[in-house]
Order: sequence, then structure tokens, then C-alpha cells
Amino acid sequence: MRFQRLDKLINIEDGYRRRFKIDSLDVVLAREGDDVTAFSAVCPHQEQPLEDGCIENGVIYCPRHNYGFDLRTGQHIEQQCASLTIYTVHYEGNDVGILMAY
Ligand code: FES
Repeated sequence: MRFQRLDKLINIEDGYRRRFKIDSLDVVLAREGDDVTAFSAVCPHQEQPLEDGCIENGVIYCPRHNYGFDLRTGQHIEQQCASLTIYTVHYEGNDVGILMAY
């Protein structure tokens, strides 16, 4: 696994959202309360950008059709849609990022 740095820990305040392009990946890093999550920037339903989606109780709601995806598993909460890709958030020193398979 390779650590991909995304931002400095000091920048990750409550409500933080930022979209990153990493090779072919399109990833959102987000903080809501104490939870820092990283997930695909594109909704698996009809490819709506998710960085402006509302996050409540560990679920992100797509702005287009309001489908909710569990940010721990990526599953659509009503299991009617493909799952959202979730990335493992990792910390190294003062940096926060994700673990990549290559
Ligand atoms: S495009 Fe996201 S729920 Fe439809």
C-alpha cells in the first residue's frame, strides 16, 4: 500500500471538503465532526459530483437524487444502487491522505 498525501492535518477543520485528482482517481476528502472520510467524488448512480453532498450520521446524500451512501462501507442505504468507493484515510506525521493499492 502506498500513502498518498492529500493535505496537512491542520487544514482539516470540521466541515472541510476538498476534491483531488490522483492519477485516474477522483477523490473527496471530508471532515464532519470528528469523522474524516475519503470517497469517490462521483456518485455511482448517475455520476453527479458528491463534494457538495450533505453528510449526516456517517451517510453522504447525493445532491441530485438524494441517495444516501454509508461512508464506512460505501453501500447505498436502501441497497438499490451500486456502492460508493470508499478509501482508507491514513495519517503520517502532520499529513492526512489515503492508502492506495499501487
Ligand atoms: S446521481 Fe447521485 S443519486 Fe442519482
